[in-house]
Amino acid sequence: MLGNAIAQLSQLIVVGATIAVTAWFSGGFQPSDIPLGQLARAQGVEFGTAVTTESLQEDAYRKLLVREFTTIVPEYEMKFADLHPAPNRYTFAAADELVAFARRHQSSLRGHALIWHRSLPEWLLQGAFPREALLGVMQEHIRTVVGRYRGQVPIWDVVNEAIADTIDNPQSPWRNTLWWRAIGPEYVEAAFRFAHAADPAARLFYNDYGGEGLGPKSDAIYHMLKLLRDRGVPVHGVGLQMHVDIAAPPDPDAVTANIQRLADLGLEVQITEMDVSLKNSMGSFEERFSAQAAIYQQMLQVCLNAPNCTAFVVWGLSDRQSWLREESAEDAPLLFDRAYRPKLAYEALRDLLETRSQ
Ligand code: G3I
Repeated sequence: MLGNAIAQLSQLIVVGATIAVTAWFSGGFQPSDIPLGQLARAQGVEFGTAVTTESLQEDAYRKLLVREFTTIVPEYEMKFADLHPAPNRYTFAAADELVAFARRHQSSLRGHALIWHRSLPEWLLQGAFPREALLGVMQEHIRTVVGRYRGQVPIWDVVNEAIADTIDNPQSPWRNTLWWRAIGPEYVEAAFRFAHAADPAARLFYNDYGGEGLGPKSDAIYHMLKLLRDRGVPVHGVGLQMHVDIAAPPDPDAVTANIQRLADLGLEVQITEMDVSLKNSMGSFEERFSAQAAIYQQMLQVCLNAPNCTAFVVWGLSDRQSWLREESAEDAPLLFDRAYRPKLAYEALRDLLETRSQ
């Protein structure tokens, strides 16, 4: 196992080093005229990032965001606790600000996330709602939120992370959440039907992590989605979050196979929250940035090669904004450094997109 990981990491470093040399000869890390988002959109893939209202206050951040990305995702402003802090009170100001920003800059927007086990308000957590009452709360929340942004938010992460991290019983792969305990696994179908009723034109996604390649969790997600599709439930796509680490890189062939079997179900796929952590690996920053760049490039290659992969979204614009820094201040998982300079990973995506554009 360890030998394998070291061999994989070494291989990634070699690939990444090639990228570094190419980038260096191509005149360093100055973004060229054609923004990544434009290059990606020409290949049928939206290039996006998670954003927050706080970050939008900074000029340098806003300029880079508008130039390089074509789609944005609210990092927390559209979550249950932030939109619906009290039973009869909704707070839309922050989400409205992000929707207005996207419209002003012709960015598309991913709504994230309607039903999740985290970011729930105390009134819901403490409410001990029985099954029918909780279904009523869910329906009213989804109808209110999706209805408000009907026609402005084309894609919703309707259910986030409903499958357990480890699958002890494939017949019941469910994460133990407030929704699952009170309603049962049927809460997933209910959420999608409520969202579709609120905006029949919206593309409705299931979003999760740890199921990007092939394995027990990926199989559980696939079987859940197959059942939903067989029952005519309006689920249109799958978000592969892609929170990965250079110490355990995703297998491009496995991710390709997984995306293909989801395509066979008629499902769109998007990479929705990619970041590539350095925290579990040793070596110089140069070596680690090289390995990181290779992983970003491999996953974009997988997405570009899959006709049903329509977005490549990273979970933050620069290392300064990454949620991973709460855990490790030294981590540097994204495409731009804390001074908003493009890193090797950015150059790796540019190299790939420019090569494919020729
Ligand atoms: O809610 C307050 C807001 O009122 C305040 O103005 C703002 C000031 O900075 O802070 C907000 O608080 C925190 C917010 O992050 C700041 O970004 C929330 O308390 C905190 O819970 C929130 O954490 C987010 C977390 O999801 C929970 O929503 C992280 O930023 C975000 O990166 C993380 O993202 C999740 C995805 O949604 C789902 N997949 C996993 C991913 C990582 O956990």
